[in-house]
Amino acid sequence: MIRLAVVEDLPVLQDIERAAGEPFRALGMAAIADDDPPSLADLAAYQNDGRAWVCDDGGGPVAYLLAEVVDGHGHIEQVSVHPDHARQGLGRRLIEHAADWAARKGLAGLTLTTYAEVPWNAPYYSRLGFVTLGEQDLTEGLRAIRAQEIARGLNAWPRVTMRR
Ligand SMILES: CC(C)(COP(=O)(O)OP(=O)(O)OC[C@H]1O[C@@H](n2cnc3c(N)ncnc32)[C@H](O)[C@@H]1OP(=O)(O)O)[C@@H](O)C(=O)NCCC(=O)NCCS
Repeated sequence: MIRLAVVEDLPVLQDIERAAGEPFRALGMAAIADDDPPSLADLAAYQNDGRAWVCDDGGGPVAYLLAEVVDGHGHIEQVSVHPDHARQGLGRRLIEHAADWAARKGLAGLTLTTYAEVPWNAPYYSRLGFVTLGEQDLTEGLRAIRAQEIARGLNAWPRVTMRR
């Protein structure tokens, strides 16, 4: 079931993030696999504000999603599924949950940034109905997010911004 994250979940979300990063290694993207998960303080900011959700299989979280509001859209900051629970529709369900949250808040849709060529990134989001935005279509907030990503070195592989 999907529920709001609680404080006790936050270290588990770091574990999920590390595990979900591992498959990037096989694509030659070890830097992504080795990237630190969000800090507990960062996670707490989302959790505290009701913008962090988990999929709990009864034994605790196995997947999570973090969202924020960027220029009138719900922006998916992170969605991660533990590889032991991948390809069971949990990612899709979390994204639909975020879409419902965004709609309830009167937001225009969802946005995210992701890797263009990683099979479980942009091609996956395309299957869920997201379309890639041209650079000229990026709002101020999305441009700021892209700039932060470049500063963090995430841009060594092609990244795209998508909207649904
Ligand atoms: C992206 C992610 C959240 C998808 O979650 P999920 O619960 O496995 O996805 P769903 O069950 O909703 O959908 C499965 C589809 O995702 C794609 N997919 C998931 N894992 C994949 C893999 N290892 N290789 C190729 N495609 C994959 C496929 O399109 C798959 O459909 P299929 O099983 O019919 O081939 C999950 O793979 C993940 O946590 N990845 C690592 C973290 C990450 O990349 N986050 C995004 C960073 S921008």
